[in-house]
Formats: sequence, C-alpha cells, structure tokens
Amino acid sequence: MTRISINGHQVSVPPGTMLASALLGSGAFRFRNSVSGEPRAPLCGMGVCFECRVTVDGHPHARSCQVPVREGMEVNT
Ligand code: FES
Repeated sequence: MTRISINGHQVSVPPGTMLASALLGSGAFRFRNSVSGEPRAPLCGMGVCFECRVTVDGHPHARSCQVPVREGMEVNT
C-alpha cells in the first residue's frame, strides 16, 4: 500500500491509484472552491476540466485525476 496525507490525515491506497480516486475514496468530496466559493470536484476525469485541482507537496493546481499517488505525498484540498 502507498501512504499519503490528505488534509493532514494519513491514508493508505493501492500503488498506482490516481490521486482523485484516492481523495474520493477517503471521503473528500470538496477538492477546491470556485472564485465564488462553490465547492468543486472532479468532472471529466481525464485532465480537461481542471475541476479536480488540489495542492500537492505545496504546489497548487495539480490536476488530481492525472497524478498517481506517491509514497509520502502531502495533499491539501
Ligand atoms: S477531473 Fe477534469 S481535469 Fe481532473
């Protein structure tokens, strides 16, 4: 299993899991907020809509549907 941190909580997921799947599986359904404060979450699942952006290891705007989990990854929604 691959261990990652999601909003400070440790989660274990199978290796190769895409980050969006790991987030949804952990119960995170609010990936980010729109400029007007609306909750946003994955829509297309293939890197087009940018609705699944999260902060990974301090780098904002990572499209979580395009990023495989990596041991020790720190993710913030
Ligand atoms: S879900 Fe659309 S870019 Fe990730």
